[in-house]
Amino acid sequence: MELSESEGFRLRKAGIWDIDELEELERRSFTFGRFSKSILLGFLRHPFCTTIVIERDSIVASAIVLFHTQGTEIASIAVIPEERRKGYAGRLLEEAENISRRRGILSLSLHVAVENDAATSLYAKYGYNISERVRDYYGAGRDAYYMVKKLDDPDA
Ligand SMILES: CC(C)(COP(=O)(O)OP(=O)(O)OC[C@H]1O[C@@H](n2cnc3c(N)ncnc32)[C@H](O)[C@@H]1OP(=O)(O)O)[C@@H](O)C(=O)NCCC(=O)NCCS
Repeated sequence: MELSESEGFRLRKAGIWDIDELEELERRSFTFGRFSKSILLGFLRHPFCTTIVIERDSIVASAIVLFHTQGTEIASIAVIPEERRKGYAGRLLEEAENISRRRGILSLSLHVAVENDAATSLYAKYGYNISERVRDYYGAGRDAYYMVKKLDDPDA
């Protein structure tokens, strides 16, 4: 299903048929802690998960987002190296927020490796605050920040 159109790229939900491109995006984006093909397929089939992609001639960016009743979890976000700093990751975060609002979910969270300055800066720019440092989240000696964003309650 298409979510919206914009000049030069298309934002849409991914389907099972996108698995090879998503696996390639994962391979090019992460040096450790990559999701395997079977885990990516698990996300695509998961009833509470939406994988949002940005597509030009092919997929250039993706966000794997889990919508729990207690809050939205950004499980992964990735942009191919040559398309970075063009605002794609920010656009994906905005879309995750839009879907959350439509579902009445007002809290978003994620984990990010403490040494991942690019991603930590991205999330800070989009209003996520560090809530805690989680020891060994990605394995021994690999800590994560747990970051949270609260959306305004339209009924408050
Ligand atoms: C982190 C990542 C998703 C950012 O994607 P992106 O499309 O380049 O990000 P955007 O263009 O939307 O950047 C938005 C803001 O994030 C911050 N940011 C992004 N990349 C940055 C970098 N390399 N250094 C510092 N700040 C950065 C900036 O504040 C930027 O705003 P600006 O360009 O106006 O300064 C991308 O670098 C990536 O895929 N990295 C590898 C995978 C990864 O680490 N994913 C996160 C896992 S938690």
